Amino acid sequence: MRTLLITGGAGFIGSNYVHYVLREHPEYRVVVYDKLTYAGNPDNLRDVADDPRYAFVEGDICDAALVRETIATHGVDTIVNFAAETHVDRSLSDPGEFIMTDVYGTHVLLEAARELGLERYHQVSTDEVYGQVLEGSSVETDPLDTRSPYSASKAGGDLMVLAYHTSFGVPATITRGSNNIGPYQYPEKVVPVFVTNAIDDKPLPIYGDGLQMRDYQYVEDHCEGIDVVLHHGTPGEIYNLGTGVETRNIDMARCILALLDKPESLLQYITDRPGHDRRYSLCVDKIRTLGWTSRHTFDQALERTVRWYVDNEWWWRRIKSGDAYSEYYRSHYGGREVPRPSQG
Ligand code: NAD
Ligand code: TYD
Repeated sequence: MRTLLITGGAGFIGSNYVHYVLREHPEYRVVVYDKLTYAGNPDNLRDVADDPRYAFVEGDICDAALVRETIATHGVDTIVNFAAETHVDRSLSDPGEFIMTDVYGTHVLLEAARELGLERYHQVSTDEVYGQVLEGSSVETDPLDTRSPYSASKAGGDLMVLAYHTSFGVPATITRGSNNIGPYQYPEKVVPVFVTNAIDDKPLPIYGDGLQMRDYQYVEDHCEGIDVVLHHGTPGEIYNLGTGVETRNIDMARCILALLDKPESLLQYITDRPGHDRRYSLCVDKIRTLGWTSRHTFDQALERTVRWYVDNEWWWRRIKSGDAYSEYYRSHYGGREVPRPSQG
């Protein structure tokens, strides 16, 4: 029996990973440790709530005493850390929380892993730590070149993980994933914003010229890749996780409209994000040596994602109808409309 502490397990990828582990490893127990920020949502874990192999603890990864107590009480032997502040736009207006959770919180978890002699620590990181890559693809040994407070704080977390491995022998691995799409993604990230707006015939807000590129991967594939590294990766190593295929935002928006049979008149160009990274691209050769490759093409991943939001309005309407979301949407998007650029 292995007992995983899944920090940030009530968020988008973390909750998908909880489902994945309970399904794929019948002999494992899972303890979700989550602060339930605006992005943490018990609805994401509703269908595992009664599983005897699952437990939930509400807590902050910066709270060292509660982290230690939770590990001891539940007999945790492994930490998989998803907990983070994750939205680039929010990091531009409020960087402090990102530094606390993504850097200091990571340190607290590593310190617990060291002191309590845990078998394994895994850090879920992002391709954004490499910074924008205008040509070619990032390999794991590339220097970090962050440009937003989000990516800078994630890079700080990664460096802390490597430091704890080198200095104290903590058996830690890191994965750097590309943009995920799929069920339970909070509607502030681009795909759920576009899909749920399109369902309601509302505009799809395109930043800048819409020609920025991301490698969009299906969340289940990412979860499988994390699990492969947890079981077969080498401590001290970093693994990129993505499809290796990039898509322009405007093309992704058009695909969503086509899947929902909505008109292109819903495309609404708005002022660009400051410091907007133009392109991310991952070389995924290293993870292939562990036998993992993503199962879904971009079209399959997007189609599945759109279908999930169509079928699960109960989940996102509860979020979008709340005051906090309405206020976020109004203050973030209000008054940013610009004319359509000629090349879009
Ligand atoms: P999310 O914003 O949906 O969820 C984050 C979760 O962490 C929430 O449940 C939140 O309540 C929790 N949390 C935040 N601060 C906490 C704290 N101090 N203590 C305990 N819990 C806290 O994020 P996500 O999109 O699921 O991302 C999960 C991880 O994957 C993050 O580390 C992120 O950097 C990384 N990542 C995300 C993507 C992506 O496309 N979303 C891609 C690559 C890597
Ligand atoms: P996002 O989902 O915030 O992820 P990332 O962390 O990669 O920035 O945004 C993905 C891309 O979509 C990015 O190039 C910014 C763009 N974008 C829009 O054009 N409109 C939007 O409303 C949002 C949220 C993002």
